[in-house]
Amino acid sequence: MISLDNISLMRGHQLLLQDVSLVLYKGQRTGVIGRNGCGKTSLFRALAGEIPLDKGDINLPSDLRWSAIAQETPGVDRSALDFVIDAHKDYRKLERQIKEAEENGDNHALGELHGEMEVIDGYDIKHRAEQLLSGLGFPEEEFSNSIKTFSGGWRVRLNLAAALICPSDLLMLDEPTNHLDLEATVWLEQWLNRYQGTILLISHDRTFLDAIIDYVVSFEKENLNLYTGNYSAFEKKRAEKMALQQAMYEKQQRRRDQIEGFVRRFRYKASKAKQAQSRLKELERMQEIAPAYIDSPFRFSFHTLDHFPTFLMQIENLAIGFDEPLVTKMNFGIRSDSRIGLLGFNGSGKSTFLKVLAAKFEKKAGEIITAKRLRIGYYAQHQVDALNKYQTPLQILKKQQKKERVMNRPLIRK
Ligand SMILES: Nc1ncnc2c1ncn2[C@@H]1O[C@H](COP(=O)(O)OP(=O)(O)OP(=O)(O)O)[C@@H](O)[C@H]1O
Ligand SMILES: [Mg+2]
Repeated sequence: MISLDNISLMRGHQLLLQDVSLVLYKGQRTGVIGRNGCGKTSLFRALAGEIPLDKGDINLPSDLRWSAIAQETPGVDRSALDFVIDAHKDYRKLERQIKEAEENGDNHALGELHGEMEVIDGYDIKHRAEQLLSGLGFPEEEFSNSIKTFSGGWRVRLNLAAALICPSDLLMLDEPTNHLDLEATVWLEQWLNRYQGTILLISHDRTFLDAIIDYVVSFEKENLNLYTGNYSAFEKKRAEKMALQQAMYEKQQRRRDQIEGFVRRFRYKASKAKQAQSRLKELERMQEIAPAYIDSPFRFSFHTLDHFPTFLMQIENLAIGFDEPLVTKMNFGIRSDSRIGLLGFNGSGKSTFLKVLAAKFEKKAGEIITAKRLRIGYYAQHQVDALNKYQTPLQILKKQQKKERVMNRPLIRK
């Protein structure tokens, strides 16, 4: 059981949680939900004892074994496989002890240590580490590569594999699917569904959450609210709660207006003074209901176009790639109502294909026939790299809008 007793948590000058109490039971699989910056990661760090609380206590069973994804990978020369196995501290310890006992010829100790090794399934650990690496998308020939040689996204996967192999009763996963492709995500989902312990999961991926969790803890105005059910059930309940709160707020506002109107009209009329008094009292007694509050007040809508062509693109015998082609002989059309998902292994050419369509990269062969004056919105995989670091968000958007204005004429001339 994990219990938060009246905790308050601050980061910098920002109050993230105030007087929050919450109990999570053994085996509960809980999604931790809230807008960016509300304090989800900070809560995990507080649970791990890495940052102090400003008030209150977190109580965890003293023998609780917890595991979390490390944020950094050490810059050491260690093979991927060994790095993952290192996370199983008990295994490494027994391995050392067995080696010592062998060197000392201590057969009695050896017998005991081998017994302990069996209990923790230690003889199977290499196989389990390999399975984790494969599941997370590492090709077998890379298992023995040094962790230093892996790029950032792959190091995150290494840390994830390490978190999973480490024996635990509580698994804290902070956005574990961020660097995973679809296949690795599906694999992780299956792995977590077989996991026996308690799970705390931060994710912005609703499908993934839905498949794993049976409870939601939601950050709402410096408080944590617990909901039963998965993310979809939570959304439904929250929408109902907000609709009810909004209806009560509106009802209260109507009553307030009525009373204030009555008092204004009859305040100086002797026959109604008593009634006015009692209504004023009612007004004072009213507990103020806040309007339903949506965490993100963000609204966005696309401009509707008056005219647009039915066929946007026709792709004929297209080949894409670098020195070697990645894909050849692509033939298909894209209509204005097409909604196409691109699937494929890492490195199979999905991003290159989009770059070619968006005219950011040369095609190798073939034709792309586009509708007249077609405008393409393009969001890159590493869009952050495309941003000018020295401009403010507003400057970037204004520049974009200026470009749009120049082009913003109907697609088809009448
Ligand atoms: N070391 C720090 N010192 C001061 N403030 C911090 C520190 N780390 C985080 N914060 C602030 O605390 C707040 C909560 O951050 P946190 O990373 O916990 O949010 P989060 O819910 O995990 O957000 P996201 O969804 O973006 O991951 C943010 O406003 C952040 O700027
Ligand atoms: Mg976070």
